Amino acid sequence: MSNTLKSVSAKAAPAPFLRAGVMGWPVDHSLSPKVHGFWLQQYDIEGEYVRIPVAPQDFAQKIKSLKADGFVGVNVTVPHKQAALRAVDEIHPLAQRIGAVNTVVVREDGSLFGFNTDGFGFLENLKAGFNAFDAGNGPAVVLGAGGAARAVIAALLDAGAPEVRILNRTKERAEDLAKDLRGLGSGSILVGDWERRGDYLQDAVLLTNTTTLGMHGRRSLDLDLTALPQSALVNDIVYVPLQTDLLARAQDRGNPTVDGLGMLLHQARPGFEAWFGRLPEVTDALRAHVLKGV
Ligand code: ATR
Repeated sequence: MSNTLKSVSAKAAPAPFLRAGVMGWPVDHSLSPKVHGFWLQQYDIEGEYVRIPVAPQDFAQKIKSLKADGFVGVNVTVPHKQAALRAVDEIHPLAQRIGAVNTVVVREDGSLFGFNTDGFGFLENLKAGFNAFDAGNGPAVVLGAGGAARAVIAALLDAGAPEVRILNRTKERAEDLAKDLRGLGSGSILVGDWERRGDYLQDAVLLTNTTTLGMHGRRSLDLDLTALPQSALVNDIVYVPLQTDLLARAQDRGNPTVDGLGMLLHQARPGFEAWFGRLPEVTDALRAHVLKGV
């Protein structure tokens, strides 16, 4: 039999079924299954992405058994992002610096590689929403000093921001964050006074809110935008509601704005690529799908 015929009659090996998921406690509200489920269907990939509720005391044992449980990887969410840093075998340097892992790849030999895609998601969202954005163009003002702020500030410094001004209600928290991230990139970090937050907006090319202010059910962000250049990009990582009061006020005075949903969608892309072999796209159809029921 000729080789040609042989290759025609031979059946291709079936694609392996790939399983990934999100570990959290609680994990019912995670939107990640919606995002990855949409992409799995869109790209016709044999796989699934499931919710994995794991109580804190069970996390270390559960993450070690991912290979045995048939997983190619997971996302890690609240409250496990710091515990994941300690549980993996190898950590990406930026995740180490941020102090949190949100994405884990299970390698062939069962070892775990952890990285953090929040900063990537943040920057990709800004670039997708506003082509002209370049972190290197000037100072960035970041409100907040929680976990999200860490990833955002690390990403900005890594992308060449010349200065990041951090404003947080609890100043010590911002100072701790600055201590951990100083030396990343060549930019400087300035910790300002929350009470005088409006004064730090001068010359800024970016204003980002990473606090929970403006989120549905919380109080709104009280910030005087007078000093902010009209060309500065304004971003809120809050996405419920999508149009926060901050974004509405920024638009009213003519600033370009980018909402927070894109960060969630873009941060999911590197994990999907690592587990399922394809870098997925963020489209309007995906946004509409995820927004249904939010
Ligand atoms: P995440 O990990 O999602 O960033 P977080 O760690 O709870 O969440 O951080 C929430 C951020 O919102 C913090 O910067 C918090 O300020 P403190 O560090 O002072 O707590 C900020 N925040 C929450 N409620 C606030 C309020 N009423 N006024 C000002 N800042 C507030």
